[in-house]
Amino acid sequence: MNLAKRIDKLPPYLFFEISRRIQEKKAQGVDVISLGIGDPDLPTPQHVLDSMWKAAQDPVNHRYPESDSLPEMRQAVATWYQRRFGVEFDPEKEVLGLIGSKDGIGHIALCFIDPGDVALVPDPGYPVYSVGTMFAGGESYFFPLKEENGFLPDLDAIPADVATKAKVMWLNYPNNPTAAVASLDFFERVVAFAKKYDVAVLHDAPYTEVAYDGYRPVSFMEAKGAKDVGVEFHSLSKTYNMTGWRVGMAVGQPDIINALLRVKTNIDSGIPQAIQHMAITALLGPQDTPERNSQIYARRRDGIVSVLKKLGFRVESPKASFFVWAGIPTSEKSIPFSARLLDETGVVVTPGIGYGPSGEGYIRIALTTPDDRIDEAMRRLEKWSVK
Ligand SMILES: Cc1ncc(COP(=O)(O)O)c(C=O)c1O
Repeated sequence: MNLAKRIDKLPPYLFFEISRRIQEKKAQGVDVISLGIGDPDLPTPQHVLDSMWKAAQDPVNHRYPESDSLPEMRQAVATWYQRRFGVEFDPEKEVLGLIGSKDGIGHIALCFIDPGDVALVPDPGYPVYSVGTMFAGGESYFFPLKEENGFLPDLDAIPADVATKAKVMWLNYPNNPTAAVASLDFFERVVAFAKKYDVAVLHDAPYTEVAYDGYRPVSFMEAKGAKDVGVEFHSLSKTYNMTGWRVGMAVGQPDIINALLRVKTNIDSGIPQAIQHMAITALLGPQDTPERNSQIYARRRDGIVSVLKKLGFRVESPKASFFVWAGIPTSEKSIPFSARLLDETGVVVTPGIGYGPSGEGYIRIALTTPDDRIDEAMRRLEKWSVK
């Protein structure tokens, strides 16, 4: 049997490695507390669950869904974007439902990238941007997100010949893993860059609704001209605690939306319709879930940031996203540091290198573990000799 070369090129999935270590520790009787994976511990709202139950009773929803998602779901997405960001989309041409945003993020390279083509990809960043590029036969040009620039890219530092060759630029604000946020002014500079070099902008925005202290993240689609150059991915996952249901959306430039629909029509059969009804209910119903979530995450954030500061980590209190990105206070690399932390305290964090070379020297902590477990983890850290 000969597997394709792309399988050899796949990086080991970081969370898989971490899960393996957790299992090992648990087998040794260690009470492991994982602050590694960002997956809301809070439940899907009851009214959203009720709508799935109701939709499940209707035989119409037992059949193949359409790849382009229900017209009512596309309309609900357009209404939500209009209410939240004041941006109008034509639900027929500028909106597409996704099987979680990862579906669209992983597949959109097939719309742009031919073998040898270039994608501009943030480092550190969500690994799917570069893996999707590699699956399509392309090359990623990684641009660094540096602490001194607020983890925003320095657009002028991307060499003109690379930018000219590039077909797409990936961005993600509020950012995973750094928790950085971007302003409308920054997004407008991105639009100018995209027009200058004829690059499509793919903005991944699943964390716009997880924000603290009154801060309201902006959408890339609010930037003047954004709809000419790009699309934005959003997700019900983090906004409404729906990671398990797999539903998200892409909005923006109609030719890109259409190309993604054509790709998806050939590889999947759409989002189960009962789940599309959950999305409609979540998007159009009461909007208190994100606010309540953010209050819970904010309390956890404050406890964690204060302990990390006492231990000497370089850390800012995040304005948005449910991650704390912290500079390691010793000279250790992020993998051995995280391994020592696990060995000596039973607490799991994600080593920054897992998100790219510029993530070296940092760890990422997710705020999606119940309060009592976070409190216990922090008690252990406070007693830990960080060295
Ligand atoms: C930056 C980023 N983008 C996209 C996703 C995918 O989210 P989903 O497929 O659940 O919508 C995640 C999930 O962790 C993420 O962190």
